[in-house]
Amino acid sequence: MAAERALAMATCTAPVNIAVIKYWGKRDTDLILPINSSLSVTLHQDQLKTTTTAAASRDFTEDRLWLNGAEVDVGHPRVQACLREVRRLARKRRGGSEDTTTLGLLSYKVHVASENNFPTAAGLASSAAGYACLVSALARLYGVEDELSEVARRGSGSACRSMWGGFVQWQRGERPDGTDSLAHQVAPETHWPELRVLVLVVSGKKKPVASTAGMQTSVETSPLLKHRAEVVVPERLAQMIRHIRERDFEGFGQLTMQDSNQFHATCLDTFPPIFYLNDLSRHIIALAHRYNAHHGHIKVAYTFDAGPNAVIFTLADTVDEFVEVVRCSFPPTTNGDQFVRGLPVGSAALPQELMAAVVTEPVPGAVQYILHTKPGPGPQLVDDPSQHLLGADGLPRHHA
Ligand code: DP6
Repeated sequence: MAAERALAMATCTAPVNIAVIKYWGKRDTDLILPINSSLSVTLHQDQLKTTTTAAASRDFTEDRLWLNGAEVDVGHPRVQACLREVRRLARKRRGGSEDTTTLGLLSYKVHVASENNFPTAAGLASSAAGYACLVSALARLYGVEDELSEVARRGSGSACRSMWGGFVQWQRGERPDGTDSLAHQVAPETHWPELRVLVLVVSGKKKPVASTAGMQTSVETSPLLKHRAEVVVPERLAQMIRHIRERDFEGFGQLTMQDSNQFHATCLDTFPPIFYLNDLSRHIIALAHRYNAHHGHIKVAYTFDAGPNAVIFTLADTVDEFVEVVRCSFPPTTNGDQFVRGLPVGSAALPQELMAAVVTEPVPGAVQYILHTKPGPGPQLVDDPSQHLLGADGLPRHHA
C-alpha cells in the first residue's frame, strides 16, 4: 500500500473542437467568462488528440510540466488555475471521509507530460485539447468525478467544449463567479453519422495575433462584436441547435459559414484591425461557394478560427468529389502521396462541367495536406500503463 502511494499516475486523451458559433470576447478575463455562448463540434481523436499523464509522488520536489517532450514553465497562471481548481474539488470531495490516499496525493507535487498527435505548428487549436486533457488527467489522478468543464474553461475558454464529445454548447452563464459558465452536450457524436470534417492545413506558421489578446481588443473597440454578442448569437444558437437536431446539413452549413464570416468581420471591425484570413483563405471560401452553386445547394461549409487553416464540414457522400476538387485547385507540389490523411478517401473523376465551373485558377502547393475526420467522443481514460508518458521515475519517457 505504501509503495502504491509512492507514485500515482493517470493518463487521459482529449479532443480538439471546432466552433460553428464562435466564442470571441470575454466579460471577465481572469475567470475566462465569455460575452456570448458558443457551439462546437468535437473532432475524432483517432485523427487529432492530446495525451496527458499526471503523476503525484512524495519524491517529487516541485510541480513540473513537459509539452511535447520539452519542459515548460509550470507557473503559467492558467496552468496554475487548473491545478488549484482540481485540487480544490478533490479536497471538497474528500470532505469528512477517511480517504487517506487522496489526502496523501494532495500533499505531493505533480509531474505532468502532454503530447499532441499532430504538429502544434499546424495551428490546430491545440490549447483546447491541451487544457481539457490536463484537467481530465489531474481529475483522474485525484479521483474527482465532478463536472469539469468549469475547470477546463480556466485554462482556455474553448477548452471547456473539449470536455464533451459530439455537439457541444458553452453557455455563457450569468453569475459573476462563473459557476454557471459551463459546457454541455447538445447531441452525441453518434447523432449525425454522415457528418464529415476536412481540415485544410494551409500554413505551418504561428498565428499573427494570439486569440486571447485579439479578442480583448475586439471587446474594447468593436461595436459589431457588441451587437453580435447581444443580438445575433442568441438567435443563431437556437437555430443551430435546431439544424443539428434535425440533421439539416444545408441549414447547419449556411449558418456555420455565416458565423465564421461574422467572426472575421468583427476582427476587421477591431481597431487596429486583426486579419486572420489571407488570400488563400479567401480563395477557399470562393471555391466552396462555386462548388455549392454548381450543385445548386449547400454541400460543403467552411469555417476559420484565429488562423488561416480552413475547416470544411460536409457529408460522407461528398468527400471523395470535394477532396478531388481541392487537389485540382491546390495541386500538391511535395508529399503528393500524403496529401490526404486520416479517414480513407476514395477516388473521384470530376465531370468536365464541374471542373470548368469550380476549378478556376489552381494555386500549386498552397494546401499542405487535407486531414479527413469526423465528430468524435470527449476525453478518454487510457487504461494501458504502457501508454503513460511518464516513466516509473516520474520523468518523460524517451519518445521518437
Ligand atoms: C476563434 O479559447 O483560444 O477559436 O479563452 O483566451 O484561451 P482563450 O481563447 P481561445 O479562443 C478561441 C477562439 C476561436 C473561436 C472558438 O473556438 O469558439
